[in-house]
Amino acid sequence: MAADQKVILVTGGSGLVGKAIERVVQDEKRDDEKWIFVSSKDADLTDRDATKAMFAKHKPTHVIHLAAFVGGLFRNLKYNLDFFRVNSIINDNVLHTSYETGVKKVVSCLSTCIFPDKTTYPIDETMVHNGPPHSSNFGYSFAKRMIDVQNRGYHTQHGCNFTSVIPTNVFGPYDNFNLEDGHVLPGLINKVHTAKKNSTPFVVWGTGSPRRQFIYSLDLARLFLWVLREYNEIDPIILSVGEEDEVSIREAAELVVEAMDFKGEVKYDTEKSDGQFKKTASNAKLRKYLPDFKFTPIKQAIKETCNWFEQNPDKVRL
Ligand SMILES: NC(=O)c1ccc[n+]([C@@H]2O[C@H](COP(=O)([O-])OP(=O)(O)OC[C@H]3O[C@@H](n4cnc5c(N)ncnc54)[C@H](OP(=O)(O)O)[C@@H]3O)[C@@H](O)[C@H]2O)c1
Repeated sequence: MAADQKVILVTGGSGLVGKAIERVVQDEKRDDEKWIFVSSKDADLTDRDATKAMFAKHKPTHVIHLAAFVGGLFRNLKYNLDFFRVNSIINDNVLHTSYETGVKKVVSCLSTCIFPDKTTYPIDETMVHNGPPHSSNFGYSFAKRMIDVQNRGYHTQHGCNFTSVIPTNVFGPYDNFNLEDGHVLPGLINKVHTAKKNSTPFVVWGTGSPRRQFIYSLDLARLFLWVLREYNEIDPIILSVGEEDEVSIREAAELVVEAMDFKGEVKYDTEKSDGQFKKTASNAKLRKYLPDFKFTPIKQAIKETCNWFEQNPDKVRL
């Protein structure tokens, strides 16, 4: 292997973000990079020995760490303790094994939903640890925040180049479209599909008023490659569309209705929890580095995701 050859291991490689990175890597191959995408079938990352064995097998020089126990509001509300424990163990196994095996760079994934609940807007990268997260997902949030603590620790104590990115709500092909466990947008797509098929109303959970910045998984994947190749800070960077591109759940639902050409009744079940009202994030730091990066317009990205959902029933995770 040439001295400058990179071996990039992507944990969580079978998921929404991992599949998008795989696709973007195929489109812009580089000779000095060998990519390996792994899932829980290759190694259960809650198991330290299995994690070590996988690193010994692939000998990565770089790691994109995506693997996590994830889910939407309703799964978080039910399993806060599991979210904390499972994610803490996975992260410790991946980061410590990376350190022990001399991995040159690790890019881990945080999320904008880990920011303090009571905050000023827009949220930026300096605010990760400023106060308690929303009570609905405190387990996931504290586990994710500790990645930043570990990155700083591995850097100050051992000189490691471990960093993290903070995406907003991601959506795209290969998402989890399960209604109970998944995120809001794939849930809306699944519900419109069912409502269309059964000629029943499309019921949106909550009031539709909360606001979110959605990022298309393929845009996020392109940004991940940039972070891996060019970004050299230990501090996290928010990967998001601009504040002006935030939409309400109602607007997102209407885009799904339009993309899937649904003509039936749309209802809002206001008995269901809305979750955090908004978590508007600033992408000023990203824009300082990449002023010209073009995000896919949300209407087009939702249309592409709906098309993928309808055309790939065998690949849809329900
Ligand atoms: N989706 C979002 O809106 C969003 C927003 C912000 C941040 N993020 C972060 O982005 C990252 C990727 O999320 P995603 O949406 O792509 O998730 P996803 O589609 O649910 O994929 C999760 C991935 O993690 C793997 N995994 C889970 N438990 C594992 C274990 N014990 N051992 C090994 N692998 C395990 C899964 O493998 P299997 O397929 O084998 O189960 C899968 O590849 C996560 O760190 C998440 O916190 C996501």
